[in-house]
Amino acid sequence: MSENMLFESYKYGGMELKNRLVMAAMTRSRSFERGVPHELATLYYSQRASAGLIITEGTHISPTSAGYLWCPGIYTEEQMEAWAKIVSAVHDKDGKISMQLWHTGRISHTDFHGGEKPPAPSAIKAIGRTYTKDGWKEFSEPREMNRDEIKSVIKDYTNAAKNAIEVGFDGIEIHGAFGYLPEQFLCSGSNQRTDEYGGSIENRSRFVIELIESISQVIDSWRIGIKLSPSNIANSSSDDNPTETFGYLVNKLNDYNLGHIQLMEAEEAAKTLPNYIPNVADYFRNIYKGTLITNNHHNRETAIEFLESGKANLVSFARWFLANPDLPQRFRVNAPLNEPLKKSFYGGGAEGYVDYPFLDTSQN
Ligand SMILES: Cc1cc2nc3c(=O)[nH]c(=O)nc-3n(C[C@H](O)[C@H](O)[C@H](O)COP(=O)(O)O)c2cc1C
Repeated sequence: MSENMLFESYKYGGMELKNRLVMAAMTRSRSFERGVPHELATLYYSQRASAGLIITEGTHISPTSAGYLWCPGIYTEEQMEAWAKIVSAVHDKDGKISMQLWHTGRISHTDFHGGEKPPAPSAIKAIGRTYTKDGWKEFSEPREMNRDEIKSVIKDYTNAAKNAIEVGFDGIEIHGAFGYLPEQFLCSGSNQRTDEYGGSIENRSRFVIELIESISQVIDSWRIGIKLSPSNIANSSSDDNPTETFGYLVNKLNDYNLGHIQLMEAEEAAKTLPNYIPNVADYFRNIYKGTLITNNHHNRETAIEFLESGKANLVSFARWFLANPDLPQRFRVNAPLNEPLKKSFYGGGAEGYVDYPFLDTSQN
């Protein structure tokens, strides 16, 4: 196997990525006030500017999209000003950066909604917990969104995308994975609506398609990406037939000239379930014609294999980028990697955030 493909440049829509390595979105829970990114986020992201493309942590599109404490937003002037500094620091180091747009839907708690129930496609509670100002609490039972509210959430996503491009981001990625709002619409286990947003696969895909169509009105379609996890059962996600549901959606996405789709490989626990797809990129490469980013548990060797076999155009890494700001350089020389420290994934300050060492010690 040759390492060369990792370092080939890649034409992504109207821009060129300097290599095939993408930093996947990672929530770091350090936005302590008003959804404004932590002051160290500028250093954190710019340290990782050698990635072909950085995708930011999940970022809220509106106050009602929240589901976890200390996550940033992109709907106020103050948030936008902070993000503008981050983007410009990444661009100064010749990096590219897209913002991940996030609505948690039912994966939330009434504490984030002034005591009201969180909005979701249907009033079906998910099993699990989120971190609130008073510590860990079970997800609340959600309420079913009405049609006007769905339109207004699509507007919030659209404004957020516009804001992101306005402050200089190279693109946006819709967080359509892990059982958050877009996947809640898509999957039959969380969507039991009887209107045009529920029932058939076409109806369950409508929310995502309307989102993409609306965002495409305000930014170039090649600046839009979407992350999907077709073999996901986390956050109570379930579908009667994921092969059909995601097969339909991914095929439909061919029509929109998107920047990318990012597909997560199957979780171990989903691999043996009926109709779940064990080898995700393999399966969808035959359906999707555009840029496909593969994600989940990749290492240097699997990255080379996925690129060389043509299963994917780009490979994303989350935890390895978290712990190795110079991951491309380490892959180039096949150097040992810093291990990610779990205890500092979420919350805290500089430790485990901006202090992972570079190989080239002059950059530490
Ligand atoms: C600390 C942490 C935070 C994460 N936050 C997000 C997020 O905000 N949005 C998202 O799509 N995925 C998130 N993920 C998932 C990663 O993007 C990625 O899909 C997953 O970690 C698998 O990739 P890896 O094996 O390279 O780590 C997070 C993962 C970690 C470790």
